[in-house]
Order: sequence, then structure tokens, then C-alpha cells
Amino acid sequence: MKKILVIHGPNLNLLGQREKNIYGPTTLNEINALLKKLADRNKIELEILQSNHEGEIVDAIGAAKTNQIHAILINPAAYTHTSVAIRDAIAAVDIPAVEIHLSNIYSREDFRHSSLIAPVCHGQISGFGVNSYLLGLQATIDVIKGASS
Ligand code: DQA
Repeated sequence: MKKILVIHGPNLNLLGQREKNIYGPTTLNEINALLKKLADRNKIELEILQSNHEGEIVDAIGAAKTNQIHAILINPAAYTHTSVAIRDAIAAVDIPAVEIHLSNIYSREDFRHSSLIAPVCHGQISGFGVNSYLLGLQATIDVIKGASS
């Protein structure tokens, strides 16, 4: 069975209570349950990590080949705008990655308008709330199946 690594970056453990006007009422557990349902329907296995620590995210990406991961779905959260280390890790492993954001980062503060991660990803989905995750997972599955180039 093909495996996708799902990475949730810093503060996403607080979804459901954090700035609900921006990120909505859905908790991370609820999002993960929705992702698992979609993965099951597509006979894909998910490995899910939430971390508030840049190095832990870098380690997980670096170990992805050894762990037989076929693709990465990542919401790098605040690290989107700051982390050369996460960008380099994705570039290093040569595994397709899809970046997602709940909010539309381009309609928010200036410092959120640039992503250091997006240039090393297959693509980016931003602004559809929880649906960003589901669209992102579907896109990731399609990339693995070769339906998206
Ligand atoms: C976010 C957008 C980031 O700018 C922010 O730092 C987050 C969440 C999103 O999903 O909309 O933590 O990645």
C-alpha cells in the first residue's frame, strides 16, 4: 500500500480553539479523521505528524525515503514563511510534496505572502479551510497515481 506523510506544523494542534474566525472550528483530530477516510477510500496509508519543532519536521522529511513514504502533504504553518531548513529537506528527499493552508495566505498580512516551501513543492492549495486539506490530499494521491504532472 502506498504511504503519504501528513505534516502539520506549529500551533495546528490548537485548531478548534485558535483564531476560529480565521481557521474555523474544526479540531486537528477531526481533520485527521477526514483525511483518513479519504485515504482509506483510495487504499492509501497515512503517517501523520504534528510538531511545533522545526528540527522534528526536518527529521521526519529526511527519514521519509527510509520509511517508504511516496509523497508528503504539508501545512508548514508559520514555518512556511521562515524555514530554509524545511525547504531544503523537501528538496533533498526528492519525494513529491503538496503544501496546503487553511487560510488564504495571500489575502493576509504581508509577511504571509511569501512561502519558502512552495517552490520545492508540486503545488500549493490555500484558502479553503478544512477543504484545503482534502483537496491537498486528493492532489497528493493523484500525483502518486501519476494522474497529475
Ligand atoms: C497557516 C497560515 C500560516 O501563515 C500560519 O502561520 C499558520 C496556519 C494556514 O493553514 O492557514 O499557522 O499555515
